[in-house]
Amino acid sequence: MIKSLYWKNSCLYILNQKILPRRIKYLPCRKYEEVAECIREMVIRGAPAIGIAAAFGIVLAGKEKKFSNSKFLNQYIRKACNDLKKTRPTAVNLFWAIERMQEKLKSLSKETGNIGYIQKRLEEEAKRILAEDIEMNKKIGAYGAKLLKKNSVVITHCNAGALATGGYGTAIGVITSGWKSGKIKMVYVDETRPYLQGARLTALELKQQGIPYRLICDNMAGHIMKTEKVSAVIVGADRISKNGDTANKIGTYSLAVLAKYHNVKFYVAAPGSTIDRKISSGSEIPVEERAEKEVTTIFDRLIVPKGTRACHPAFDVTPSKLISAIITEKGIFKYPYSF
Ligand code: MRU
Repeated sequence: MIKSLYWKNSCLYILNQKILPRRIKYLPCRKYEEVAECIREMVIRGAPAIGIAAAFGIVLAGKEKKFSNSKFLNQYIRKACNDLKKTRPTAVNLFWAIERMQEKLKSLSKETGNIGYIQKRLEEEAKRILAEDIEMNKKIGAYGAKLLKKNSVVITHCNAGALATGGYGTAIGVITSGWKSGKIKMVYVDETRPYLQGARLTALELKQQGIPYRLICDNMAGHIMKTEKVSAVIVGADRISKNGDTANKIGTYSLAVLAKYHNVKFYVAAPGSTIDRKISSGSEIPVEERAEKEVTTIFDRLIVPKGTRACHPAFDVTPSKLISAIITEKGIFKYPYSF
C-alpha cells in the first residue's frame, strides 16, 4: 500500500494526493507552514492522516529555528499549533493529535529546559501517533471483517484507506480484512465528487490489492443497491459525537438514507481519535465549506456557464439511528451509542 507520508532525517515527506493516480510524488516539508499548506490544500487528506501530518508539523516547528531557550521553543510551537488548527475544521483527529502533542510538550517542559531532549521526545511522540494509528486500523479491520457475510457486495464512499490514514485504512481496512478472509465479492466505489477521492484514490488502493471493484458515479448508488444485492455500505468518519452521529465526506448521509430504504447495513469504521467526547450530538460538528470553484471546475476546467454559483459543504452528518454499527479498535458498537 502506498504511504500517505513518511518521516526521514528531520523531514516530513507528504504524498501529493492531488495528482494521484497519475503520478506518485512526495513533497518534502521542513517547516510547519508547509505541512499546514498541504493540509489546507488537500495535498494530504483523510481525518487520521491530517492529524498525523500535524503532529509531525509540530516536530518541525520545534526544530526549524535556533531557540535560545525553551520558553521561545514553547512560544513558537504554540503558534504552530494555532496555525495548524486553522487548516481544516471538521476532522477531529487533527485537533486530537495537536492536543496530544501539546500535552507532551507541557509535561516535557515541566521536566526539563533541555531543547535537544524536548525535540527528540516530541519526534518520538509523533512517530508513536503514526504507529498507533496503523495498529488501530488493523484491529478495526479484524472486527469489521467479522460483520461481513460471505460473498459480500459493498459500497464505499470517498477514501478511507491507507492514503487517508497512517496505513491500512479504516473502511478500506475492513474491506481488506474481509477480502483476505474470502468475504468480499465486489466493492462499488463512489467516485465522490467534487474531489474524486473514490475514483482517484480508493480505486487505486483496491486495484493495488487485487480486490474486485467497479467505479460508480455518486448518483448511481440507489440503483446499484436495488439491482446488485448490496449487503453493506462501509465508510470512514471525520468526527463522531458522543451519541454516534457521524460526520463524513459529503454524500455519506444520502447513502445512509438509501441504505435504510433498501435494508442494507450501514457501517462506520473509525479509530478512537475520531470520537469527539466533548460534543453530545452531530449538530455541534462544524461542517467545512470549501471554495465554489472546486465544484464548478474539474481539474481546473470550468464545467458550468461562467458566473454559476455553487454550494460546497465538504461533509455531512449522518444521524446515529441510520448507522447499523460503528467499528473501532475497541470493538463493535451499536445503537444507542455511548463511547
Ligand atoms: O476531504 P477529505 O478527503 O479529507 O475527507 C475524507 C473523508 O471524509 C474520509 O472518509 C474520512 O476522513 C475518514 S478517513 C479514514
